[in-house]
Amino acid sequence: MTDFKKSVVYEIYPKSFYDSDGDGLGDIRGVTEKLDYIKELGADYIWLTPFFVSPQNDNGYDVEDYYHIDPRYGTMEEFEELAAAARERGIGLMLDMVFNHTSSRHEWFRKALAGDEKYKNFYIFKKGKGPGIPPTNWESKFGGSAWEYVEAFDEYYLHLFDVSQPDLNWDNPQVREEIQKIVRFWMEKGVKGFRFDVVNLISKGEFADDEEGDGRRFYTDGPNIHQYLKELNEGSFGMDPEIVTVGEMSSTSLENCYRYGGEGENELSMVFSFHHLKVDFVGNEKWVMVPYDFRKLKEIIFQWQTKMEEHRAWNAVFWCNHDQPRVVSRFGDEGPYWKESAKMLATAIHGLRGTPYIFQGEELGMTNAGFRSISQYRDVESLNHYQILQEKGLSSDNALQILGIHSRDNARTPMQWNDGRQAGFTEGEPWIEVNPNYRYINAQTELRDEDSIFYYYRRLIALRKQYDVIAYGDICPAAEEDAQVFAYKRTWKDEELLVICNFYGWPVSWKSGESLKGYEILLGNYGESSLEENGAMLKPYESLMLYRKRGE
Ligand code: GLC
Repeated sequence: MTDFKKSVVYEIYPKSFYDSDGDGLGDIRGVTEKLDYIKELGADYIWLTPFFVSPQNDNGYDVEDYYHIDPRYGTMEEFEELAAAARERGIGLMLDMVFNHTSSRHEWFRKALAGDEKYKNFYIFKKGKGPGIPPTNWESKFGGSAWEYVEAFDEYYLHLFDVSQPDLNWDNPQVREEIQKIVRFWMEKGVKGFRFDVVNLISKGEFADDEEGDGRRFYTDGPNIHQYLKELNEGSFGMDPEIVTVGEMSSTSLENCYRYGGEGENELSMVFSFHHLKVDFVGNEKWVMVPYDFRKLKEIIFQWQTKMEEHRAWNAVFWCNHDQPRVVSRFGDEGPYWKESAKMLATAIHGLRGTPYIFQGEELGMTNAGFRSISQYRDVESLNHYQILQEKGLSSDNALQILGIHSRDNARTPMQWNDGRQAGFTEGEPWIEVNPNYRYINAQTELRDEDSIFYYYRRLIALRKQYDVIAYGDICPAAEEDAQVFAYKRTWKDEELLVICNFYGWPVSWKSGESLKGYEILLGNYGESSLEENGAMLKPYESLMLYRKRGE
């Protein structure tokens, strides 16, 4: 049985991973063809973002049919081939289940709109507060009101995301049963894990106006959330102890995560939280341009690390996914220290207490898209906010600058396989433009270079398998007051691990505050280091992973 604490998950966004048939869209066969690459890296699981039948308004997070594969991605036979090929290589597949909402094209929603009461009750329909006034003032996460008017009923339906993503009514037991059935169906296909999309939003509380915010406090970590997760666990994945689960928790709280990812809670194996990735927001507002707050980043990570440990709950640890800008562009350096900063950021995450997730291309140091024109963008959230920002009075240039920093499309440009046409992603025209830096940032080049970011990630994954302290150790924050260094210690039985990262492009003298005698360098991102008995002169973006056995 694969131990999820010793494991690393590799996220694949199939649409941008590898196109096996030249239509410009990545597909399932493309994933199968590249399995050896993932094996070479050493990841234990592949999380595949949704490939179910979908109109693709939100790139598959709008599911029309949970039991079938979108023909643009392939067929069920091809999926089964992928599952078998992955199994042969000891890699588990983790599917992405979107159950907070369906697509408005899902059969259930179509029946609901046709007036079938059974299916109307699968969704959340409510009367407005008056003519033209929605039931509450909640905002959609993709911009605008979270309610859409349906004239035939003189009612509104709730959509926390796009208007084409109506929210399901989890308070209806029939909905919960249908969902269990879907999970069991995929379990029978040999799937080894699930990621549950925005799963902490499924239990809605009171439907009231939010005078303080956008409504999230009424539906986030809602009143029955723990009961619904326990029930889902019991009726589906919990029946197979080998299955690993992770919940994507939007704007969640620590107290709730103690339970979502708590040992013995029978909810999920672990949680994604996002507070550490809001350090370049203003409050909850992402569409702004402010430098990131390094002290806050440290503080949030340390708080989650120590508190989750105290409550015996497990984190997923990550910088990147298909919704986040590329981390080298965000907290590292795209310029002279590109390689060092990418390796440093990898070290910072992989030494933490939790299961690391790598998003495709992160292991190559892929950077933000660098789009200059709105016509290059594809993401519904970015396109909506481009309009909203201009309605708020920003110039189109300013709006584009902000998109350039925060757009989800930064992560979604095609995987850079080689320095050939379209970065080797497709023989055709890609659905979204390739980043021109594929000429030097690409897998082929890195696989030929022992000192590459790719091999550094591989080393980090291997170290987790080799050293129990990385997988199981307790966490102890270090250098908490330091304005430039992120450091922490892990301890397990007689083992100690010390991770030290300079987050800036200039040197810094770091004092350890204890003797470093006996430590050996497991990994560093410079050929040599100035490690001394009481600290080190850290080079720009330098990171060190040190190990010792107590008493030696
Ligand atoms: C999650 C997904 C994101 C999607 C949203 C709505 O945040 O990661 O891509 O748009 O949920 O399903």
